[in-house]
Amino acid sequence: MSAVVCGLGGWLPPTIVTNEELCDRLDTTPEWIRSRTGIIERRVVSSGTATSDLAVEAGRRALRSAGFSTVGAVVLATTSPDRLCPASGPEVATRLGLVETPAFDVDSACSGFVYGLATGVGLISAGVSDSVLLIGAEAFSTLVNPADRTTATVFGDGAGALVLRRGRPDEPGSLDAFDLGADGEHSDLLAIPAGGSRQRSATGLGHGDEADWYLHMAGRAVYQQAVARMRDSTRRVLERTGCSASDVDVLAGHQANIRILEALAERLGLPGDRIVSNIDRVGNTLAASIPLLLDTATNGNLIPGDRVLITAFGAGLSWGSTLLTWPDLFVQPVDLSAEEETT
Ligand code: UT7
Repeated sequence: MSAVVCGLGGWLPPTIVTNEELCDRLDTTPEWIRSRTGIIERRVVSSGTATSDLAVEAGRRALRSAGFSTVGAVVLATTSPDRLCPASGPEVATRLGLVETPAFDVDSACSGFVYGLATGVGLISAGVSDSVLLIGAEAFSTLVNPADRTTATVFGDGAGALVLRRGRPDEPGSLDAFDLGADGEHSDLLAIPAGGSRQRSATGLGHGDEADWYLHMAGRAVYQQAVARMRDSTRRVLERTGCSASDVDVLAGHQANIRILEALAERLGLPGDRIVSNIDRVGNTLAASIPLLLDTATNGNLIPGDRVLITAFGAGLSWGSTLLTWPDLFVQPVDLSAEEETT
């Protein structure tokens, strides 16, 4: 028994923030952001909009793509849940009409979607669920310090979702081989210090530096870790599947920085044209990055039969990779240049 991808959908909040707009309030230039990251614009939620709102839109599109009205479980990968407690997954499931369906969150930052995929495959393989809706959604702009040029230029909001169903290992879309890893030794390189039990128990509610309530990122160190971890992780997945880099048609890597993906492709011996990217339009959307990328890549860059190498890296530190043959799906990809209508 295997788990097979059978539906895909994405959604972006309508508000676009360009590099030029950021430069009005930050000590940076549009050219610095574009040349050092590949990002030209990103989407952000408007006041009052939360991660679950984005997740519901993407989830609805993925269910439609699969032709499903029910699923056996909902997994929400997010690092920006609506509230610290409870998890946002149950509310998302209910709003999708998935009554009393098991639902929970996976918090693994930018690797969250790959961790969620492995979780979904596990639920199906163990016979717990016959299908899973996996959503990666983030309103992470709410956790980014608007005065910090290292992070405010990089992160954006969005959501993407996949539906998995029980299937055969030899079917296109089958997910079998994963490599997952984590290294808590370097957890401080990417962290939001306040808000959890550590700072509350030490200083009480609301104390400490306001900047501690936002993401801190040691950009250069994270960059180096990202390239090395994704290189090793993808190599392990290729080895496990008996494939080599020349078998890979598409490198669908976490969209953190186009230079990271170029460095990764070079280290794997993959030509640069195998990289698919939408970072110029959406920036780094953490757990939403991979499904949003797959969704927009179906607009001509990803065709049934392609061997797709998926890899992600993020806070934790954490990383994960998998390889699959792209299935024939009915997808209506998000229009990166237009405002989406909610449904
Ligand atoms: O999502 C998963 C985890 N995240 C990532 O994988 C992100 C990894 N990191 C990066 O993508 C890059 O490190 C950044 C885009 C964040 C920064 O780019 P960089 O080329 O690594 O720059 P840097 O951190 O080495 O800084 C070089 C210089 C510094 O100035 P000095 O010390 O040389 O005078 C920074 O202060 O660039 C400066 N700098 C900026 N300058 C203009 C940093 N951010 C900016 C900025 N505009 N936005």
